[in-house]
Amino acid sequence: MYQEKVEVLWNDRAGNEYYRIGLTCHRGYSGAKPGQFIMLHFHGPIAPFLPRPFSIHRIIKTGGRTAGIELLYKVVGEGTEKLSGYKKGDVVDILGPLGNGFSFPDHYKRIFIVAGGIGVAPMLFLASYLQKKGVKPSECMVFLGGRSTDDLLCSDDFLRMGMKIHLTTDDGSAGDQCFVTHPLEIALEKGRPDIIYACGPLEMLKCVAGIAEKHTVPCQISIETIMACGMGACLGCAVERKETSGNYMHVCLDGPVFDAGALHL
Ligand SMILES: Cc1cc2nc3c(=O)[nH]c(=O)nc-3n(C[C@H](O)[C@H](O)[C@H](O)COP(=O)(O)OP(=O)(O)OC[C@H]3O[C@@H](n4cnc5c(N)ncnc54)[C@H](O)[C@@H]3O)c2cc1C
Ligand code: FES
Repeated sequence: MYQEKVEVLWNDRAGNEYYRIGLTCHRGYSGAKPGQFIMLHFHGPIAPFLPRPFSIHRIIKTGGRTAGIELLYKVVGEGTEKLSGYKKGDVVDILGPLGNGFSFPDHYKRIFIVAGGIGVAPMLFLASYLQKKGVKPSECMVFLGGRSTDDLLCSDDFLRMGMKIHLTTDDGSAGDQCFVTHPLEIALEKGRPDIIYACGPLEMLKCVAGIAEKHTVPCQISIETIMACGMGACLGCAVERKETSGNYMHVCLDGPVFDAGALHL
């Protein structure tokens, strides 16, 4: 884990409310796992006091060496608004890589990835990691859902990798007009994957967890909670274990990735 001041490499609009920011980072990020995140501290006079968590979206390589990380973020409030104003050369403080990340047993071959809205942020990193692990792109099915066309991000990236992709929107402006869990159910009825990985809004994760349980497919979900410290000190990110009520885990330390059946969602 590294606490460091890093430089903004770029901060480009990726849609109406979305941005991609490139940051320099310690070369130790070459060992980061998909699903891990950083806590970003803001600089400047009008800046949020508390840091904000963001998933690693991509590892930036130059000449085969780790030169930085890219984050994909949605502007939702004070911190992300401030972040969207940063320019190339500005400095931010980051702490990371944090959390556990997705786990991937080597014998898994057929993978389903489900992402809702900004939940796609850690999934592109996961997809490229799976490719490096030898998973055939044709064995990876990606289910991307969003409110509208603008909320469907990275579909071209998954397609470029050769993965099959299902798009859904709530308003029907792209893909099928339904929840992303609908094509997931249909695909599951045609054939079970070895695992489902999911990240997105809580309601979507609950539904994915239920579907995975019904079809007895292993499922890992990445949870987003409010986080004030990212390292187990503030208790702000507690989630309840399923089997023992009143027994809590920290999303920042024990997660953000959990077996879908382990949590009381
Ligand atoms: C492990 C982890 C990884 C994350 N990765 C990403 C990412 O890659 N890209 C990205 O855009 N966002 C990500 N998030 C969410 C991101 O941290 C929040 O959107 C951000 O902290 C909001 O800060 P803000 O100051 O702009 O908004 P605030 O002013 O703090 O909040 C604005 C509104 O958003 C709500 N909100 C704040 N944080 C969250 C949250 N975590 N979940 C749901 N609602 C929230 C608040 O309740 C409020 O209604 C991640 C969160 C976690 C825990
Ligand atoms: S964010 Fe502070 S304990 Fe998890």
